Amino acid sequence: MISKKMQTAIDEQINAEFWSAYLYLSMSAYFERQNLKGFANWMKVQYQEEMTHAVKFFDYVHSRGGQVTLKPIAAVDTDWKNAIEVFSETLKHEQLVTALINNLANIAVEEKDHATNTMLQWFIAEQVEEEGNDEQILVQLKMIGDNGYGMLMLDKELATRVFVDATKTAAP
Ligand code: FEO
Repeated sequence: MISKKMQTAIDEQINAEFWSAYLYLSMSAYFERQNLKGFANWMKVQYQEEMTHAVKFFDYVHSRGGQVTLKPIAAVDTDWKNAIEVFSETLKHEQLVTALINNLANIAVEEKDHATNTMLQWFIAEQVEEEGNDEQILVQLKMIGDNGYGMLMLDKELATRVFVDATKTAAP
């Protein structure tokens, strides 16, 4: 049985994951407006990943005999200056999510909840990957600067990203 404290903390994380999904879908809409279809695709795949993160927590609570309480999802930004601003915000947001996951792991340790701590290891590894991806794209965007051809090349590359439900694997 999962403790009330742990369950409430995971409820908050489910909300944060849905909020992340909403944010990335909004970023996808922004890139659609810019006619950058590859960037829009990348963000849409990111949105799909976040949905699976929320559901992984959702299923986990129920597998431990807990009860999930879903909270309202706050509004997200809808417009940005350029792609660099979008990816700077994405990286900052993922760093915040990493801190939230680490805090959940701290609570699991305090509560001597080894099962939750083990489940969270998947998310800890996933966050390393997420921050790394964002950093890499941000570096590339800074190199590209105002070069339209560079943007076109990166757009083509980001168009190839395909959604895979990594929550079904042992580690991301
Ligand atoms: Fe669910 Fe992007 O972390």
